[in-house]
Amino acid sequence: MSGSPLRLGVLLSGRGSNFLAIAEAIRSGRLPGVEIAVVISNIAGAPGLSAAESLGLSTAVFVSKGRKRAEHDTDVAASLHEHNVDLVILAGYMRLLSPEFIAAFHNRILNIHPSLLPAFPGLDAQHQAFDYGVKIAGCTVHFVDEHLDHGVIVLQRAIPVLDTDTAETLSARILTEEHIAYSEAIARVASGEYEISGRRYLRRDSF
Ligand code: GAR
Repeated sequence: MSGSPLRLGVLLSGRGSNFLAIAEAIRSGRLPGVEIAVVISNIAGAPGLSAAESLGLSTAVFVSKGRKRAEHDTDVAASLHEHNVDLVILAGYMRLLSPEFIAAFHNRILNIHPSLLPAFPGLDAQHQAFDYGVKIAGCTVHFVDEHLDHGVIVLQRAIPVLDTDTAETLSARILTEEHIAYSEAIARVASGEYEISGRRYLRRDSF
């Protein structure tokens, strides 16, 4: 990628802990050449949005409730373009994206999901994994395609499920891994040193 900073557009719906972990990675110099251009929420009053405002970042709200998906996404895309966003970061954005939006940002949208995909897509992945009785859980950062929790995987982090775990303790330990994984994945994508071959994300340094 070029010498100018990679500009992130963060989309979130809730508390925004993944967004805050990314913001902290940038602040502490662990994500050089990356900046947050705008934080957008579909939920007015999302805690993550207030956190972004406190950090002095540009924010925008486009309430999605009751709106047609494509119309809502057109507003979001316009805001992302206005802020010259290079890479869209879904950080707990609990709304499906329209095919038009995904096409407009082809291979430029990342999502984090709290399971080792392709296991347990959809809502409450950590509880799904816990209830299933898996012995290894974790999280996945992937490019977004037109299917739910499905695109090319950039990286995964795995942890053992302990006999003493509850769904809540497991979720908390997965979240700790998410906070590491997302910045690492952004750094990899920001480096530009990768190729996508079919479903495989390949780092150039591993060729
Ligand atoms: C995270 O656990 C993220 O993986 C999950 O929502 C949570 C958001 O937390 N996303 C999904 O399940 C997407 N399918 P946060 O607002 O504290 O970052």
